[in-house]
Amino acid sequence: MWLFVCIVLQSAPPVQGYNYSMVPVNTTVYMGKSTTFTCSIVPGNGMLNFTARLPLNSYTLQCPGKNLNFPSMSLYGSCDNKPNQNTASWQMSNIGSDVNGSAFICSGDGLDVQVGYLWITGASKYYLMLFGCVMGGFFGILIIFGVTYVSLKRSERLQECFKGKPEEEDDIEGVEEETIKD
Ligand SMILES: *[C@@H]1O[C@H](CO)[C@@H](O)[C@H](O)[C@H]1NC(C)=O
Ligand SMILES: *[C@@H]1O[C@H](CO)[C@@H](O)[C@H](O)[C@H]1NC(C)=O
Ligand SMILES: *[C@@H]1O[C@H](CO)[C@@H](O)[C@H](O)[C@H]1NC(C)=O
Ligand SMILES: *[C@@H]1O[C@H](CO)[C@@H](O)[C@H](O)[C@H]1NC(C)=O
Repeated sequence: MWLFVCIVLQSAPPVQGYNYSMVPVNTTVYMGKSTTFTCSIVPGNGMLNFTARLPLNSYTLQCPGKNLNFPSMSLYGSCDNKPNQNTASWQMSNIGSDVNGSAFICSGDGLDVQVGYLWITGASKYYLMLFGCVMGGFFGILIIFGVTYVSLKRSERLQECFKGKPEEEDDIEGVEEETIKD
């Protein structure tokens, strides 16, 4: 009889069990972009520790608790504690290759640790496009200047041709006419 009660008690799930409603996921971002890692626990009275493990340093956000801001690294940690859900998030912007492989580790009350990794990939299409436009614009302007210069040179020569030669011819004709008259 007591054995039966014990088995029932052990196999019964905890009444107020916490659970994650959102966990950090592996994320690949282009250099210079932004991303946010989020971890949430339900219900809202569950505690969270959310660690940003960068290659050089680790920072742990405890939620509910105070926000952690590191403007020099464009790294911002914040807590959002609501009755139905407690959320911790790390936001990173202007991401460089120096934070490649960072881990965002979430530990919720009585739950398994969840990890999301940050991978950085090469220059974004946007930057490539911008680069292309700038270089294209630069060479485009060079070409326009070149063409304009050459055509100006040519038109100067043409102008000289039109101005100079007919006069000479007139003179020669005049001389010829005079000689004929004499
Ligand atoms: C916790 O959440 C996961 C994913 O949403 C779900 O599969 C699991 O059943 C939940 N566990 C409990 C105890 O509610
Ligand atoms: C996230 O990346 C780690 C390390 O590369 C890997 O072990 C893990 O399986 C990945 N998780 C998911 C959900 O893909
Ligand atoms: C969070 O970290 C603190 C200090 O290390 C620890 O006392 C606490 O148990 C941790 N909480 C969770 C949910 O991991
Ligand atoms: C980030 O690390 C991964 C794995 O080590 C590597 O393949 C990738 O080239 C790295 N990215 C940058 C921008 O260095």
